[in-house]
Amino acid sequence: MSHRNFQRVIKSRAPRPGARNNARVPPRWRNELERILISDEQIARRIRAMSRDIARDYASRELVVVSLLNGTVMFLADLIRNLSLPLRLDFIGVSSYGAGTESGELVFTKELRLSVRGRDVLLVDDILDTGKTLYRVLGKLRALKPRRIKTCVLLNKAARRIEAVEADYVGFEIPDLFVVGYGLDFAERYRNLPFVGVLHPHVYRQASQRIAPARRRKTCARGCD
Ligand code: PRP
Repeated sequence: MSHRNFQRVIKSRAPRPGARNNARVPPRWRNELERILISDEQIARRIRAMSRDIARDYASRELVVVSLLNGTVMFLADLIRNLSLPLRLDFIGVSSYGAGTESGELVFTKELRLSVRGRDVLLVDDILDTGKTLYRVLGKLRALKPRRIKTCVLLNKAARRIEAVEADYVGFEIPDLFVVGYGLDFAERYRNLPFVGVLHPHVYRQASQRIAPARRRKTCARGCD
């Protein structure tokens, strides 16, 4: 494992969501979700605290926020509306699955349009899992010569890390569970849930049997094998 891109953990006090959450899964989702891991209130509270940390660290600097599509949609919207800083926003499309590709290959579906040369960049992702996505994207961004790059993720699943990459700002440390909601999907579903929930194993086991091998990395990326 290369340690070239290993980043010092600056904000290492990210909370764990707690053993049990009192929030109840809405009836519509009870067959598919085991439980709510992080409620919408917990998310909102934590994002306000993260925004304060970021605003303090970037005071008096203009930030370029680079967000990874598609999973960051909810997190990004809530994060930047809490950030009272001048910033510009751009997106990189990256997915662990693309049509006709080998399983496990990362595919870039949208490139950055803003110049980040000499700029302060905040790279935002929804979940840091194996680290392959962030590792690749950080390599790409560093080649564009920004002044500095910091990384911000809502969820950190350290147990599954393959690449030596850590985030500077972490919302929650989570165990190795298959989580969906608040932007995170399973087979493109569940992104609209306002909370982070734990998917019932029967959902991904059934789906995994139906999925062709080339799609498995994307659909099963978060542990359904
Ligand atoms: C998910 C997630 C992260 C990445 C993390 O993206 O949004 O970007 O996986 O996994 P890693 O640390 O193991 O690389 P995905 O490719 O599923 O695309 P999506 O954002 O469209 O859901």
